[in-house]
Amino acid sequence: MTLIGCDDFFGWMKTTHNFFRRKRMQPRVTTSTLMKMKEEKKKITALTAYDFPFARMLDQAGIEIILVGDSLGMVVQGKENTLPVTMDEAIYHTSMVSRACSFSMVIGDMPFMSYQGALDKAIDNAGRFLKEAGAAAVKLEGGAAVCPVIHALSRVGIPVQAHIGLTPQSLHQMGGFKVQRDEERLLKDAKDVEEAGAFSVVLEGIPSAISAKITKALHIPTIGIGAGVECDGQILVLHDMIGINDRFLPKFVKKYADLAGAAKKGLEQYINEVKAGEFPSKEYEYK
Ligand code: KIV
Repeated sequence: MTLIGCDDFFGWMKTTHNFFRRKRMQPRVTTSTLMKMKEEKKKITALTAYDFPFARMLDQAGIEIILVGDSLGMVVQGKENTLPVTMDEAIYHTSMVSRACSFSMVIGDMPFMSYQGALDKAIDNAGRFLKEAGAAAVKLEGGAAVCPVIHALSRVGIPVQAHIGLTPQSLHQMGGFKVQRDEERLLKDAKDVEEAGAFSVVLEGIPSAISAKITKALHIPTIGIGAGVECDGQILVLHDMIGINDRFLPKFVKKYADLAGAAKKGLEQYINEVKAGEFPSKEYEYK
């Protein structure tokens, strides 16, 4: 049995107390919460998650938005880009995340070609995120071109987060994952998606001076990724920022933890102990 010291004990009590106080006092984040945070100049935190255990950690930590991003194609499925992700896969992952959350707002990311065609198909697909997967909103990529979709979804009561700038689903059209610098177009896209009914917009891969102008020009919150500190909130891909993804990391990613390093160390120790006949020792045996 491990005995914990006095300081540890009071630290643990404080953490537990704060955790339950936060859970009791904090109602679930909604689109109105986010709007109010923008008005009050309180920064919004957002991260991606794709499964129950990580979503539970994020929810308990107090992250306001959990996006079940189509980045799952790259960081979970090991694919080259986000294009192959299907509706059924997105729904499956969003359901796992929703089950874990009582505080965070869960947003489902609409896969490539699930909203670019007929409007009624886009509505059906977006509806699945709310009906089957327990999400509170959907995200989709594009500016002026997707405004009819944003408008149609908003009209039937599906909140939409827009996503402009570097839009990974348009990878082939953009000629790669490139920073977007056309200020006039970006400002127009941002205003258009707001006008069409988006409750928030992700700004990806945009110089910080342009994001600052967009953030000032909009009433809805901007959530930046590689778009500087002036955005109303920030989002990162979870697997990048906690060091699970050991593939290429873009310049804007700060690594807050090294989970892969910790896991590799544990795995090495397990292999060594099994090979040496040290595990399982007596304490892990049944009598
Ligand atoms: O798919 C995703 O994870 C995203 C975020 C990076 C914004 O779109």
